[in-house]
Amino acid sequence: MDAAFCKKNVENAKKSMYIEEKSSKGNVISLIFSLKEEIGALAKALRLFEEKGMNLTHIESRPSRFKRGEYEFFIDLDCKDMVSLEEILLGLRQEISGTVHELSRDKIKDTVPWFPRTIQDLDRFANQILSYGSELDSDHPGFTDSVYRARRKEFADIAYNYRHGDVIPRVEYTEDEIKTWSVVFRELKTLYPTNACREHNIVFPLLEQYCGYREHNIPQLEDVSKFLQSCTGFRLRPVAGLLSSRDFLAGLAFRVFHSTQYIRHGLEPMYTPEPDVCHELLGHVPLFADPKFAQFSQEIGLASLGAPDEYIEKLATVYWFTVEFGLCKQNNEIKAYGAGLLSSFGELQYCLTNKPEMRPFEPDQVACQKYPITNFQPVYFVAESFEDAKEKVRKFAATIPRPFSVHYNSYTQSIEVLDSIEQLKDLVDSISGEIGTLYHALRKLQ
Ligand SMILES: [Fe+2]
Repeated sequence: MDAAFCKKNVENAKKSMYIEEKSSKGNVISLIFSLKEEIGALAKALRLFEEKGMNLTHIESRPSRFKRGEYEFFIDLDCKDMVSLEEILLGLRQEISGTVHELSRDKIKDTVPWFPRTIQDLDRFANQILSYGSELDSDHPGFTDSVYRARRKEFADIAYNYRHGDVIPRVEYTEDEIKTWSVVFRELKTLYPTNACREHNIVFPLLEQYCGYREHNIPQLEDVSKFLQSCTGFRLRPVAGLLSSRDFLAGLAFRVFHSTQYIRHGLEPMYTPEPDVCHELLGHVPLFADPKFAQFSQEIGLASLGAPDEYIEKLATVYWFTVEFGLCKQNNEIKAYGAGLLSSFGELQYCLTNKPEMRPFEPDQVACQKYPITNFQPVYFVAESFEDAKEKVRKFAATIPRPFSVHYNSYTQSIEVLDSIEQLKDLVDSISGEIGTLYHALRKLQ
């Protein structure tokens, strides 16, 4: 798969145009770009650098290595702002479209953070856990419990060894673990009919029916993952602990949710300092079975791919106030859809009282909101609907400075980077097939 993808990239690069990043020393970047013979093309290209305040310290031209009668331009520039550089490179390709021959994607490699292109690439995250694998902080309820710590190591090993396509190993939960689950399950279930959103209440009985959601049984991730795949294509993959925001959000782009498999310490069944299987199965899973919510979550993931660090932080904050702590309007009432709320007996009640502040969901404001991690949230953002929230996130994502757009190909389970006319044509072809199906279906209905 990787080899085929690389080959396609090279072919596309040959067809289009190129900018080659030759070297980078300190803030000095050297580029070579070629332009079609056209009056004013070089002036237009240089204006792009000028507009971004990029100082060219050296420029020379030479006959093209690829096409007789044309020229390549070699420049050195003083670059302090890689985001602006990416915008310039985008401008070279788009604004002078047709005057620039060829753009190698190699230049993107050094200026855009790496991101997974295929669903198998998510295997790379397995060992990139920030914390909570089998190590516990000193204030964790299980810190001094050697049995609990050994058990955590068993779960961590499952996650470390898991590879895409594997069956998620089934776990035989101990009596104590099931007791902890029972307390959480029983208490939360009493609140769902009144406090949880409609989608959660529709899916929950299905999980009881098909996935073993019961007071005295902890469901298996593999069963739940299969159920989700049949509903929305979302799947679970076991994770040993916390991933970085960038890695975690990237999983959502592939409709993959990184899920813990261990359970909180039995000493404090109603409290956990970290995500655990109660949080994932009771909070997250029901919503991922809803098509609109699944799309909304994937939008956040797609927006994160290759985004600069400061935007990853903003997207992670949007994720926090939606997927984790989101509220939404339904039938003139406010309901909870965030997993942090749906898996917390205390906060699921508190969030619908008049104590916290409620604000309308606007991603550019949400993205800058600070929040506590260990206490109840003082502020919640209320979405009009998942559809509305998705459109707003999509618009917000368009403001992220990336020199390309991305599209998820669900057939190949891979990300297509849309940065050439050929790829856009391919996408139009595939969409027009679907539009044709829609058109014929509408005609038959009429
Ligand atoms: Fe979560």
